[in-house]
Amino acid sequence: MAKKINTNSSRTLMEYRLLPGYTSSDCKFKDISLKTPLVYSANNEKKYYLNIPLVSAAMQSVSGDQMGVELAKLGGVAFIFCSQTPQSEAQMVKKIKNHKAGFVKPRKVKPSMKVSEMYNIRKKSGHSTFPVVNDDNIFLGLISKWDYDISLHADCLIKERMIDKENIEVGTNITDLMKANKLLLESHKSILPVIDEDGRLLSMVFRKDINDQLNFPLEIHDKKKRLISVAAVNTHDYKDRVTALAREEVDVIAIDSSDGHTQYQKDTIKWINKHYPNIPVIGGNVITKTGFRFLVEAGAKAVKVGMGGGSICITQEQKGTGRGLATTIIEVVEARDTYFKETGKYIPIAADGGVTGTKDVTIALALGADYVMMGRYFARMEESPTDKIVVNNRVMKPYWGEGSARAQKWKTRRYNQGKFVEGVEGLVEYAGHLRDNLEETLAKIKSSIQTCGAMNLSEFHQKAELEVVSALSIREGKSHDIYLGAENLENQDYNTSE
Ligand code: IMP
Repeated sequence: MAKKINTNSSRTLMEYRLLPGYTSSDCKFKDISLKTPLVYSANNEKKYYLNIPLVSAAMQSVSGDQMGVELAKLGGVAFIFCSQTPQSEAQMVKKIKNHKAGFVKPRKVKPSMKVSEMYNIRKKSGHSTFPVVNDDNIFLGLISKWDYDISLHADCLIKERMIDKENIEVGTNITDLMKANKLLLESHKSILPVIDEDGRLLSMVFRKDINDQLNFPLEIHDKKKRLISVAAVNTHDYKDRVTALAREEVDVIAIDSSDGHTQYQKDTIKWINKHYPNIPVIGGNVITKTGFRFLVEAGAKAVKVGMGGGSICITQEQKGTGRGLATTIIEVVEARDTYFKETGKYIPIAADGGVTGTKDVTIALALGADYVMMGRYFARMEESPTDKIVVNNRVMKPYWGEGSARAQKWKTRRYNQGKFVEGVEGLVEYAGHLRDNLEETLAKIKSSIQTCGAMNLSEFHQKAELEVVSALSIREGKSHDIYLGAENLENQDYNTSE
């Protein structure tokens, strides 16, 4: 006989709906905050908060450094995947931490290079202006598309066509974008090369980028104004990996495991806390109160929950393990709140796997999750690491599970291939840029929060009232009993005689 048999069905997010609460006139859409803690921190440090409750999954087809930069600029964070070597993962973290909004590390050219050679680089890179430096990286000047005509100057040397540094406004050791912006405006120029005190080129600032960069009010950053980065580790090579990531000043480590209720996970958390006490660890995944308590007592500063629900996941089919995400959240949130009452420590919960769209995010938050992790949603974006492909005239991006044969290939050099797969490989429809998608998603989340009369996520947790819906009411909740697409018929004659 099994130790425990629960005959109640576990439920998915799709089975719940929110009931409206009283919305006062003070509850204005524009004032609703989606700020949420990323991990527990005794001092409530600013850098451990997200400004939007969304994080991208630690997966090869989702979270590379480009996603890491863009999502942090927009207030969330990407969990950089660990199914790669520790060195290449650390390089991704380095790129995120070194990303200076608006300060571009440009492709440089040498004064002795021919214009034709630079023209070829221009065709490949799409950049029209290049800084000219000598072998010691001393800045000598700029050459842009206005300085030559390829039919006339192909054989000229760059030094014959470039604008000399004496005629260019430069900034010395500038790191503040506002200062760079001021200099650019005063100089009436569109590009500002930034050099150090010895004249070495550090970066370039382009006026066209500035407004864009100043337009990220939700960006999350550390004390040195560098973007926050989170990196995943496994429970095998974590010592090497965490050491490499810590060298690049990663902010938070997340353990990537489908089952976090294990001795391996406990050992990993304890080792990281002992050797890198300033890097908080997110544990997971668990789906029970006991699993939550286990991870928190091992030293996890946030807990990721969910098993078997991911869009690419076949764990339930293969192993028969898993639980509906709504039931998981309800149970673990109760454990989090009990732990908070006992200790005063609020351990954030991330809901992960099978969040199909915005309404699921809202339900997960209403049930008490602090933020939501998604793979499929982010895999569709321009900023995910995969290339677009066209299939039957539709633009698609590949998306595959970390437990799929494709993701596990990297391990073959160091580990044995697993005996079976727990994930599949497929395609998702390309959705465009992250920023545009998030704008719509966040507007919908805020609108639901407003309907419940809340102004922030913690009020939402307290005020939200939910109810299970029947299959028929789910059907009723969609458009029904009309012919869709009538707008295409608008200009046709209708026979209205019947
Ligand atoms: P999605 O947002 O529904 O696409 O689910 C993404 C989540 O699925 C990830 O954050 C992981 O927790 C989980 N996951 C990723 N790869 C696999 C896999 O191969 N098998 C099972 N679960 C996976």
